[in-house]
Amino acid sequence: MTQVLPYSGGNSHPGFMGWVQGGGTPVGMLAEMLSAGLNANMGGRDQMPLEVERQIGLWMRELFGFPDTSSGLFVTGSSTANFLAVLVARTRALGAASRASGVTAASGKLVAYAASSAHSCITKAMEMSGLGSQALRQVPVNVQGEMDVCALASMVAADRLAGLQPFLVVATAGTVNIGAIDPLEQVADLAAREQLWFHVDGALGALAVLSPDLAPQFKGIERADSLALDFHKWGQVPYDAGYFLARDGADQLETFATPAAYLARHTRGLAAGSPWPCDLGPDLSRGFRALKTWFTLVCHGTENLGAAISNSCALAQYMKQRIEATPELELMAPVALNIVCYRFRSDNTNAVNDELVVLLQESGIAAPSASSLDGHVVIRAAIVNHRTVAADIDALLEATLAFGRQLVQPITLKNKEEG
Ligand SMILES: Cc1ncc(COP(=O)(O)O)c(C=O)c1O
Repeated sequence: MTQVLPYSGGNSHPGFMGWVQGGGTPVGMLAEMLSAGLNANMGGRDQMPLEVERQIGLWMRELFGFPDTSSGLFVTGSSTANFLAVLVARTRALGAASRASGVTAASGKLVAYAASSAHSCITKAMEMSGLGSQALRQVPVNVQGEMDVCALASMVAADRLAGLQPFLVVATAGTVNIGAIDPLEQVADLAAREQLWFHVDGALGALAVLSPDLAPQFKGIERADSLALDFHKWGQVPYDAGYFLARDGADQLETFATPAAYLARHTRGLAAGSPWPCDLGPDLSRGFRALKTWFTLVCHGTENLGAAISNSCALAQYMKQRIEATPELELMAPVALNIVCYRFRSDNTNAVNDELVVLLQESGIAAPSASSLDGHVVIRAAIVNHRTVAADIDALLEATLAFGRQLVQPITLKNKEEG
């Protein structure tokens, strides 16, 4: 307690706005303690804990308007969920036989598409899939940071002309840098026309469908072939709780199910209840992530979670307005959801803002993170924690101004002190 607690990352604190991190809840903590006591291995077998995970799958199906054929799986996070999407789409494109023969024959042929603003885990997923990151085309974005679907169409056409095989398009529902939402309906139309697997990376934004005022912006998500989302971000479930949802569970089985004598299934006894989660993803031994998610959804209710999500977007708008009204600060990107990128105006802006972020973090007042947009270093605040209120935004901006002024006038200040 004395050695670890004071030195953790601090993402439960209302002033924590770095990267994209949820704040957790006491009920989530209680559930985590209970599941540690139960010590369930969620790879399979006929046991009640699996029904809890299946229940979440049914709720996710309903929430995202997926059909009865859909199936889902808890994973560590959306990096893994996005990786599963690439693997499932790859198996769909190459056929189940490619699981044995490998991807060498298709190497250099299959191509995937994601906006230039997509999370780096999509690139990593392409690398880990054996298809290579060179097979991932970066589609340009418009001024709002959303995928340019006309450019996507031209890129697909050019690749087909070159004899390549477009197979996957990844749209992002809430980009990591600025929270932009790719035009999901248009991407869905194009994917249907071109027979591409349509995956949505909803790590950051998908759960915003819980908020009635935000849900319309996500229209088209229900048409995805697969979806990645994180309960540990806006869902406030303690780490880790990522989720992969596939439109047709048969695709998941075709990609991952691997029979083995020691995992044989029966109609009765502990080995009943097939298919098991180990048939739907890479893991055999798995923890009980579903329990803390169930506790969070049931104890807090989807309405309250949606209200907290909506509130963090309202706080982002409040922050945007304060920045726009402060001449020393500059808003650096549109604010679509809960992410605000800004900087302190100065001559040496990149160096000053980089240092400013470190000073803010070290001060303990607030913890944004640094990122860059078009070569400009920005201070990035992702308002995810349900505990964050307007006073935390005020504290971040006041501290930005105080540290920023100190950084740009060290000599003047020093001279004054000396004089
Ligand atoms: C849009 C997006 N995709 C994927 C990820 C990766 O998710 P995870 O950290 O759960 O692996 C993130 C993380 O912030 C994200 O914002």
